Amino acid sequence: MALKNLGDLPVLPLPESFALTAAYNEDSFPNKVNLGQGVYRDNNCQPWVLPSVRKAEETLHNQQVNHEYLPIAGDSKFLTKARDLLFSPEIGSSENITSLQTIAGTGANHLAAIFCARNLHPKNVFISDPTWDNHHLIWEVAAPNVTRKLYPYYEPSTRGLNFEGMLAELENSAEENDVVILHACAHNPTGIDPTKEQWKKIAEVVGRKKLFVVFDCAYQGFASGDTDADAWAIRYFYSTLFAESSSLTPAGMFVCQSLSKNFGLYGERIGALHLVTPSSNSPEGAKAHLVQFVRAEISCPSLFGARIVQTVLDDAELRSKWQEDVRIMALRIKGVRTLLKLELEKLGTPGDWSHIEQQIGMFSFTGLSSAQVQELKEKHHIYMLSNGRMSLSGLNESNVAYVAQAIRDVL
Ligand SMILES: Cc1ncc(COP(=O)(O)O)c(C=O)c1O
Repeated sequence: MALKNLGDLPVLPLPESFALTAAYNEDSFPNKVNLGQGVYRDNNCQPWVLPSVRKAEETLHNQQVNHEYLPIAGDSKFLTKARDLLFSPEIGSSENITSLQTIAGTGANHLAAIFCARNLHPKNVFISDPTWDNHHLIWEVAAPNVTRKLYPYYEPSTRGLNFEGMLAELENSAEENDVVILHACAHNPTGIDPTKEQWKKIAEVVGRKKLFVVFDCAYQGFASGDTDADAWAIRYFYSTLFAESSSLTPAGMFVCQSLSKNFGLYGERIGALHLVTPSSNSPEGAKAHLVQFVRAEISCPSLFGARIVQTVLDDAELRSKWQEDVRIMALRIKGVRTLLKLELEKLGTPGDWSHIEQQIGMFSFTGLSSAQVQELKEKHHIYMLSNGRMSLSGLNESNVAYVAQAIRDVL
C-alpha cells in the first residue's frame, strides 16, 4: 500500500550499542564506564591506533598516492592479502575462491544476504541464538523473503554452548540450500566457540545436508592472539568439504571478513567477502552477479583502509609488528577477564564467575539480567547491553574494582 504521509512512518529505535554510546557520551559522571560498544580501548580507555597501522599511514603519506576509483570488485592486491590471511596462502590461491572488497564486515554480510536471497532462494536462514543483532536486521532488509530461524547456541544453565541443541536444529529443520550463519571465532555476544571436535561435527551436518554456509569472521586474532589459529574452522571447512574427493560439499560458502577490529580501522569500513564454490561449479556467473550488486549499491569500494591493510600485510617487518599488535589487544582483554573475576571473588560476590575468564574474545556474556544491567547504568553509570553482554576492552586496571563493586551491589 502506498504511503500517503511521510509522518505516518513509525519512529524506530537506534540500535542498542549506538544508543548506549550516545548516552555514555552525554553522561557527565567522572567515573562512567562504557562496556557497550565492541571496540578496542587501551588501558587508559582510549582508542588505540595500532603502531603498525600508524607506520603504514606514514608510508602512504610519503608515497603521495592518488585518489582514483578502484575496480568494482576492489583492489586486487589487497584482496589477495586479505584472502590469504583468512585461508592461508596455500588455500588462498585456489580457483574456487572468489573475493570482493566490501564496506567492512557489515557490507560483506549484506552482500552475502542479497546474493543468497536473489540467486540461491533459500527457504530459511539459520542464525545463532543469540547473535550480533545486525544479522537479523541485515537479513530482514536484504532478504525479506527468507525466513529467519534461530538455532540454539547459548545454554544459560551451564553458561556454555548448547551443542546438541544446535546440531539437532540444523539436522531436523534445515533443508537443502538453506543458509546457516556461523561465527568463525570469538562469538558475539557469548564469547563461546565450538571446540575443534564440535566444528568437525557441524561441518559434517552442513555438508551432508547441502546447506549454504556463511562464516562471519569479525574477530580474527581476538580469540587466541594468533590469526592463523583463529581461522582454523574456516580452513577446516574449506579443506574437508570443498576437496574434489569430498562427498559432503555444501551448496557453497561465503566468508564475511571484517578488518575493523584486528586493524583498529573501525571507521574506515574495510572488509572482504569471499565466495567458495564447489569444485564442479564455475565461479564466473556468481562473481558477475556479486559485482553487479556492488555496482548498484556503492559503485566501487573505498581506498584508504584497503591501502593500509595491504601495506601492512605486504611488508614482512610491518606484518610481524601488526601480529604483535593483535597479540597485545587479545592479551590485554584476557588480562582484564582475570582481573574482573578476581575482584568479584574478593568481594564475595554470590555465584560462580569463572565463565568470565573462560569465555573468548572481546565480550563476556555475564549472566546479568536486563534489570541488573539497567541498575548498573542508572546507579553506577556503567553502560552495557541489556542481554548482559559486556565489551571487556572498556575495563582496565583503574576501573575494574569499581565495576566489580557495582556488580556486587546490583545482585
Ligand atoms: C559478529 C560481527 N560481525 C560483523 C561485524 C561487523 O563489523 P564491521 O562492519 O565494523 O567490520 C561485527 C561488529 O561488531 C560483529 O560483531
